[in-house]
Amino acid sequence: PRKIIIDTDPGQDDAVAILLALASPEDVEVLGITAAAGNVTVAKTSRNIRIVCELAGKPETKVYAGSDHPIGRPLVTAEHVHGDTGIDGPEMVEPTMPLQEQNGVDFIIETVRNTDDVTLCTLGPMTNVGLAFQKAPDIIPRVREIVLMGGAYFEVGNYTPAAEFNIYVDPEAAEIVFKSGRPITVMPLDVTHKALTTPEHVAAIRNLGTKVGDMTAAWLDFFERFDKDKYGTDGAPLHDPCVIAYLIKPDLFKGRFINVEIETQSDLTRGMTVADWWGVSDRAPNAMFMGDIDADGFYRLLAERLARL
Ligand code: BDR
Ligand code: CA
Repeated sequence: PRKIIIDTDPGQDDAVAILLALASPEDVEVLGITAAAGNVTVAKTSRNIRIVCELAGKPETKVYAGSDHPIGRPLVTAEHVHGDTGIDGPEMVEPTMPLQEQNGVDFIIETVRNTDDVTLCTLGPMTNVGLAFQKAPDIIPRVREIVLMGGAYFEVGNYTPAAEFNIYVDPEAAEIVFKSGRPITVMPLDVTHKALTTPEHVAAIRNLGTKVGDMTAAWLDFFERFDKDKYGTDGAPLHDPCVIAYLIKPDLFKGRFINVEIETQSDLTRGMTVADWWGVSDRAPNAMFMGDIDADGFYRLLAERLARL
């Protein structure tokens, strides 16, 4: 299995991504999960991660709280999408498993220093990884790959007309990652907007008839209401699980190896991923930018893996 650290800000779609990872030990070994500030505060996301680990029956998972604000900007949150807790929907019990004392940024540094071939998976603003790279540049060449949900090209923005939420919240962190020189794989809105939680897909999860199936379906019911109301779609884009699905079954996705730069200066286009999809610049490619997904295959994988928990 690939050794991974998941950096995440649950978020209902983050919750599903964590479940998918914890259900797939033959493909991914979760060394630890670090909480990012994003959809809600880090106090809430670090609680939510533990709720999900306990639901998965993996209370031994190491969970760390990371930075409580972006690099050099105030935090922007998204309760309007995810609800007050970040994972509104089903009834939840408070977690009893511990939060580790070490800060998530230091956990990333220490782990990458001492473990070969770690893949970093970011499902929220990339503050923790950005800070780790800033504080300990020696770890950068040791990272195997960074697989991230963020950005957009044809789909442009979901938080502003120009920017996707995760990149918008901490563009400086995103810039550090995109300039790191390490292999980067991006799951932008162009992919995730093709991975909609249609009624059939949610029914397949609900029909698992397990606690995990019921909780996941209830999270998706809540999560969907925002997109259904605002965009009139058939469901919501299940963003973050695409990152984990890629590590399990990369051939579900198609993309291009291109240059991607992050806009950090302009107020108008802050957090835009300037993605050279058509190769019209002479800037060197730095990221595998995905554009397409086999959505049926993705949801089949998800239901099959969740059924194990
Ligand atoms: C991203 O923003 C969050 O609201 C989701 O969890 C996802 O990571 C989509 O723009
Ligand atoms: Ca997220």
